Amino acid sequence: MSRVSCIADIEKIALDKLPRNARNYYTSGSQDMITLHENQDSFDRIQIRPRVLMDVEKVDMTVKVLGETAASPIFVAASALQKMADPIGEIGGIRGAVRHGVVHSLSSISTASIEEVGDAAKALVGTDPSFRDMRWFQLYIYKDRSKTLNLIQRATKSGCKAIIVTVDTPYLGRRLPDIREPFEMPAHLSLANFKTGEEKLTDDENTDSENASWLAKYFTEEIDASLTWDDVAWVKSQTTLPVLVKGVLSAEDAVLAVQNGCSGIIVSNHGGRQLDSAPSTIDALYPIAKAVNKRIPIYLDGGIRRGTDVFKAIALGADAIFVGRPVLWALAYDGENGVNVMLDILVEEFRMAMALAGCRSIKDINIDRVMKSSKYTP
Ligand code: FNR
Repeated sequence: MSRVSCIADIEKIALDKLPRNARNYYTSGSQDMITLHENQDSFDRIQIRPRVLMDVEKVDMTVKVLGETAASPIFVAASALQKMADPIGEIGGIRGAVRHGVVHSLSSISTASIEEVGDAAKALVGTDPSFRDMRWFQLYIYKDRSKTLNLIQRATKSGCKAIIVTVDTPYLGRRLPDIREPFEMPAHLSLANFKTGEEKLTDDENTDSENASWLAKYFTEEIDASLTWDDVAWVKSQTTLPVLVKGVLSAEDAVLAVQNGCSGIIVSNHGGRQLDSAPSTIDALYPIAKAVNKRIPIYLDGGIRRGTDVFKAIALGADAIFVGRPVLWALAYDGENGVNVMLDILVEEFRMAMALAGCRSIKDINIDRVMKSSKYTP
C-alpha cells in the first residue's frame, strides 16, 4: 500500500473499509446536502495572498486557548459513536490529541465514557513534555436535567477544561440515507456515558415518525428542543468551567453569546447535518468575527480538510479550528495510528501554508492574506 499523503487519501481508504451502516451515518448531511458540500467548496473559492522574503525558517504554530498554549490550532471535534470506525474509538482520538498538544472534545453520546477518555489522557500526558491534556466536553442538554447535570459534574471531576453546549440540534436533522435505511447502533456498542440500558427508548409511539432511525428517535425523546439562552445560563450556573456554545452561524447570535457570558463560540453547522441551506461555516465566519471584535475566542468547524483551509479560517477570524470527519476516517484507516497520521498531515500542511504565505506566527495571519477568487473584469 502506498503512503497516504493527504486527508482525501485517508478518506478514500476509510470509505472502502467502513461497513455500510457506519459509512452512511458518518458521511451523511441533511436533506440535499447543500450545506455539507458548501462547507468544503467555499474554502476553494478563497485564495491566499502570499508575501515573500519574510524569513520563514522558523514558523510558530502555537495558539493560546482558554489560558493554555496549544501546539497548533488544529483541534479534534466531538463526534458521536466513534467505535463504529475502529474498536479503539474515542480513545484513539484523545491519545492523538494529547500527543499533538491540542484540544480534544468528547461527545455526550460517545462510545468511550468521560472517565475512560480522561484516564487515557492522564496516562499519556506525563510521558513527554510536549504532550497536553486539553479535554473539552460537548454537552447535549437533556429534557431530564439530572442527566445533564450528571454529565457536567463528571466532565468537571475528570479534568475537562471546558463545556461546549451544542445549540443547533433541537432535533436531529433530516438525513435522507438514514430515512431510507434507518441507522442501527451495532449491538456490541452502547452510549458509554449512560448506564447500560438507559439509552434504550421507552416508547416508540412518542416519536413523530415510525420510520425514524434509533438516533433520530433518541433525539426526539431525550434532547430538549425548548432551549433558550436561559438554559445556557443554567449550564453556567452549574459549573465553574468555561462554557462555549457550538452551532452559531449569525453575528446576532454571536453577540448574544458574548452578552450571555459565554467563554467562546464555535461557528458550526454540525458538518452540514442539521439545517440544509445554512451557510458554509467559512462564509459565516467573517461577519461573526467583526461583530465579536475579539471579546471572546471564535472557533470554527466544517469542511476543513487541508492546512490551507486552516490558514483561511484563521485569516477570516477564527482562533483555531476543529476537524470532525477526518478523525472518523483516520480511525477507520488505522485506529490510533491513523489519528496520528491524520494530525501529522494537517499540521505539516498548515506549517507549509504559513511558510509559503510568509507568516512566521499565527498573529501574522490576517484578513489581508486572503481574497475571494474572482475573474479579473476591467
Ligand atoms: C458530528 N457532530 C457532532 N457534534 C456534536 O456537537 N455532538 C455530536 O455528538 C456530534 N456527532 C457527530 C457525528 C458525526 C458522524 C459527524 C460527522 C459529526 C458534528 C461535529 O462536531 C462537527 O461539527 C462536524 O463534524 C464538523 O464538520 P466536518 O469536519 O466533519 O466537516
